[in-house]
Amino acid sequence: MSKNHPCPSFPHFIHGADYNPEQWMDPAVWDRDMALMKQAHCNEMTVGIFSWAVLEPREGEFDFSVLDETIRRVRENGGKVILSTPSGARPRWLADKYPEVLRVRPDGAREHFRGRHNHCFTSPVYREKVQKINRLLAERYGQDPTVIAWHISNEYSGECHCPLCVSAFRDFLREKYSNDISRVNKAWWTTFWSHTYDDFDQIEPPGPLTENAVHGLNLDWHRFVTHQTTDFIRNEIAPLRELTPHIPVTINMMYEFYELDYHKVAQVIDFASWDCYPEWHNGDDAVIAQRAAFWHDLYRSLKGKPFLLMESTPSLVNWKPYNKPKRPGLDVLSSMQAIAHGSDSVQYFQWRKSRGSSEKLHGAVVGHDGSGDTRVFRSVQTTGRLLEKLDQIAGTLVEAPAAVLFDWENMWALNDCQGYAAENKKYFDTCYEYHRLLWERGIQCDIVSPRADLSRYKLVFAPMLYLTDKPVIENLTAYVAQGGTLWATYMLGTVNETDLCWLGGIPAEELKDVFGIEAEEIDTLYPAENRKATLDGTVHTLVDYCEVLKLRGAEVLAEYGDDWYAGTPAVTLHRFGKGRAIYQACRDTGSLKDALAEGLLKELGIAAPVLGPLPHGVTAHTRTDGTHSYVFLENYTTEAHRVRLVRPMEDLLHSGTVEEVILEPYGLGVFSCSEEVSHG
Ligand code: GLA
Ligand code: ZN
Repeated sequence: MSKNHPCPSFPHFIHGADYNPEQWMDPAVWDRDMALMKQAHCNEMTVGIFSWAVLEPREGEFDFSVLDETIRRVRENGGKVILSTPSGARPRWLADKYPEVLRVRPDGAREHFRGRHNHCFTSPVYREKVQKINRLLAERYGQDPTVIAWHISNEYSGECHCPLCVSAFRDFLREKYSNDISRVNKAWWTTFWSHTYDDFDQIEPPGPLTENAVHGLNLDWHRFVTHQTTDFIRNEIAPLRELTPHIPVTINMMYEFYELDYHKVAQVIDFASWDCYPEWHNGDDAVIAQRAAFWHDLYRSLKGKPFLLMESTPSLVNWKPYNKPKRPGLDVLSSMQAIAHGSDSVQYFQWRKSRGSSEKLHGAVVGHDGSGDTRVFRSVQTTGRLLEKLDQIAGTLVEAPAAVLFDWENMWALNDCQGYAAENKKYFDTCYEYHRLLWERGIQCDIVSPRADLSRYKLVFAPMLYLTDKPVIENLTAYVAQGGTLWATYMLGTVNETDLCWLGGIPAEELKDVFGIEAEEIDTLYPAENRKATLDGTVHTLVDYCEVLKLRGAEVLAEYGDDWYAGTPAVTLHRFGKGRAIYQACRDTGSLKDALAEGLLKELGIAAPVLGPLPHGVTAHTRTDGTHSYVFLENYTTEAHRVRLVRPMEDLLHSGTVEEVILEPYGLGVFSCSEEVSHG
């Protein structure tokens, strides 16, 4: 399955870590690292991430000796390297000589030299310096088979309000609105409060001291930040594409990340990778696992193929309000969770714990004791052995019968809008809720853009899809017309692409025909309030939102039980073309969706590779190579659980053929069979 593997030159499970030997400059430490790397069953090190000051200590004076030595040592140790470009943090001389590389904050203040991830994305000098060092790295290491991928910069984020960025924003708008300021005024509804612009040069990015009440402006600024960051990434990658077209590139993305539209950014990289740091043990681990699962599913769906888990901690982080180590068993399980969802790696931040600075107490494979005889190290060894045992699964795919639509533009517009529950719209939480319906049943789920090709899914959820532009309306309409089952919620189709409300009633345009309803009002509940809805004689609890519907052809599945809208539709079903459209007008606490999903999944023939309902906190995931199914059972609870597979399967972690499995606390099982088991 090497063709689907993120790093085709090394089509195995990758087990490694961020490795920063330049912080130590001690051959004895480096020797020890290599010995421990073998003991940990690691086969990869990610190097060079924050090493610009070592690589170019003075402008134009390069010194690759430490990186040469690092790569040589890893190679001679039988390992591979993911090589980073160093742009995530710049050397002091660069900031001193070219202050334009420093970021300007929304209030107009330019930052001093400090921290990381805070450079200007527009600065021509920064772009040139980054290209120069990237070119040298590609020339020097690009033909070395030790290098299996490029890790571009680190965790791109943030925005810059410097004069160069402001001017680039104006150019972005000029292009978008055909250099016609009246189009901007119309698109952003600027007559409101007399905010009409006469010229593009009057437009400033939103900030605490500048215009921030024009929603269309705010939305276009978000789009510009994605556009400019992506352009910066493209600039970084250009010399690598030229000199090393055979080495794939990635960027490391993040959990619940708000600022960049990763659907757009992903277009310039070859595979997705991400840094996964859930807050384990802060409440129910089943809930935490399912939320992490959402992001694993999202990163797999981003490129429709395996991704890499670029960073995770083998024990604890140091940047949360409370920093708790993972309990015994959970590290291995959470590492294997990534594999179950389609990752071809387990990688850690970091290999060796820094001695000083802000991350000195962050978990690492090797601690300050320098020892391999620790609970954490042994856990990493266990994961390494498991990955070796399961190597045949590397490069295999996940085929999901269902998807949840997730959209950054929708999230920006929704969170920006003044209305509903002003500060508590819960877009992430709501998307997690629909994903949960599948996670709890052991059914694969993709997380895709509303602009994606949906034809391969039997069931699609569209939670809180407030912003729907014409292409999205057409995509959803075509999906249902051609036989899909679409389940949308309150707020669907409220605004268009520039954040203007759709006229003629919502949901917008053809969506009214697709769903056979029209939403007339929405009741936002106070946090202490509940409402009720009845589905098939069972009463379910509602919170936060109850939309009041007019029927335009749909049948009623559930009705409101109280308040002035008692007896009116709460959930509807409408047949449209060859498909069906379900509209859930209210937010429920879980049981209403569960009841609806149960029947619907059966009707659609979507089933898990297990028999009977899974216990709370236990889930199943399936990868496939076209001839074999690989089934992962994961137990995120501290009790043992019994699970029955749909048919006898080979036990890949032990031996023999099994049908009934006992999962230990935080336990894992991996099974294979030569048939399709993921969905009917
Ligand atoms: C991020 C960064 C790393 C490190 C870790 C700590 O993921 O990429 O450099 O700071 O967080 O958790
Ligand atoms: Zn800037």
